[in-house]
Amino acid sequence: MGRANKVVLAYSGGVDTSVCIPYLMHEWGVKEVITLAADLGQGDELGPIQAKALRCGAVESLVIDGKAEFVQDYAFRAIQANALYENRYPLSTALARPLIAKMLVEAAEKYGADAVAHGCTGKGNDQVRFDVGIMALNPHLKVLAPAREWGMSREQTIAYGERFGVESPVKKSSPFSIDRNLLGRSIEAGPLEDPMTEPPEEIYLLTKAVADTPDEPEYVAIDFEKGIPVALNGQGLDGVTLITQLNEIAGKHGVGRLDMIENRVVGIKSREIYEAPALLVLVDAHRDLESLTLTADVSHYKRNVEETYSHLIYQGLWYSPLKEALDAFILKTQERVTGQVRVKFFKGNATIVGRQSPYSIYDADLATYGMEDQFDHKAAEGFIYIWGLPTKVWAQKTRG
Ligand code: ARG
Repeated sequence: MGRANKVVLAYSGGVDTSVCIPYLMHEWGVKEVITLAADLGQGDELGPIQAKALRCGAVESLVIDGKAEFVQDYAFRAIQANALYENRYPLSTALARPLIAKMLVEAAEKYGADAVAHGCTGKGNDQVRFDVGIMALNPHLKVLAPAREWGMSREQTIAYGERFGVESPVKKSSPFSIDRNLLGRSIEAGPLEDPMTEPPEEIYLLTKAVADTPDEPEYVAIDFEKGIPVALNGQGLDGVTLITQLNEIAGKHGVGRLDMIENRVVGIKSREIYEAPALLVLVDAHRDLESLTLTADVSHYKRNVEETYSHLIYQGLWYSPLKEALDAFILKTQERVTGQVRVKFFKGNATIVGRQSPYSIYDADLATYGMEDQFDHKAAEGFIYIWGLPTKVWAQKTRG
C-alpha cells in the first residue's frame, strides 16, 4: 500500500518537480500523478511544461492561468495592508503560495485525489506556506513533499530522473535559486550566500542599474479606489496590465531592488535579493494616500495590524482566522482611500511628489502659516498645561 493513490503535484517544469513524478510512483507507490502548473506571470512558456509532465509519467497535466486572481485577491490585499515583511520585503513570492495551495486543493477535489504534493525542500518558507495553506483549505488531504525526504544531491536527483526519462537540464544550471512571478523575482544561493558579497549585476532582470537609467525623470499618476490601484496616468487598467506596465516603468528607472538578510520561519537567516518594482512603488504610494485620507488614530493603529498581517503572509497563515479578522479591519479602513498619487521616477528613486483625494481630510485653513489661518492658537496654551502636567509634576518631584 503506497502513501496515496492519486496525487496532484504542483509543477514548475524544473528538475526537482519533474523527478517528483517518477519518485512518487516508484518509491511511494502512487498510482496516478496529475501535475498542476500555475501561470502567475513567471514568464515561462507553459505549453512545453505541460508536455514535459506527460513525458515524465503524469497521467494528466493541468495548466491554470491564475494571474488575474493573483493580483486581485492576493497582491491588492497586501497593498491595502502595506504589507512589508521585516519592513522591507513586499512578499512577492510568499503571496503566490496560498493561491497555488488553493489551486492544488481544488484540483484534488475535482479529480478525486487523496493527496497533493510539492517539490519544496525542508529548509525554506514555501513548504510551510503550502502545507499549512492546504491543511487549512482541506484538512483531509494528505500533503506529500518528496524533496523533503529523499536526501539526494543535485547530481543524484538528475541521475535518478534520467533513469525514468526525465531530461537533464540542457544548460549548465545557474548557481542561483530563483523564484519569479508577476510581482517580482527572488534570488538566492551561490555567491549570494556570503552576505558581504555584492550581488552581480547579471542576476537582475526587471530592474536597470542606476548607471543605465534615463537622464530625464518620468512622472506617473497612480489612481486608487478604496485602496486598490486602478489607473496609471489617467488610464483605467486591469490589475495584471497595471502591474506589468508599472514594473516596466519603475524597472527602467532602477527602482525596485532589495538586498536583505531575512529571518525565515524555520529559524534560518538567509540572504535574499528581490526585484519587485511595481509592488514596492504601489505600497509606498498607497501608504501615502492613506496619510491624506485616514485619521491619525486609524493610521497609527493600522501600523500594528500591518506588521501582524505581513507576518501572517510570510509565515503561511493566509487562510487563518486571524487573517480573516484583520481583513475585515483593513477593508473598513479602505473605504475612503481613493484618489491620486504622483510619483517621480529618477535614477533609482521613486519619489512621491503629490497626492489628492475627494476624501482628503487635510485642511489647508488649519495647516496654513498664512493669514487665512483658522487654528485657535490660544487654545494650545490650556491644552499644553494639561498635556504636560504629569511630566511637570514628575520633574518637580524628582529634580528637587
Ligand atoms: N525568501 C523568500 C520568501 O520566503 C523567497 C523564497 C524563494 N526564493 C528563491 N530564491 N527560490 O518568500
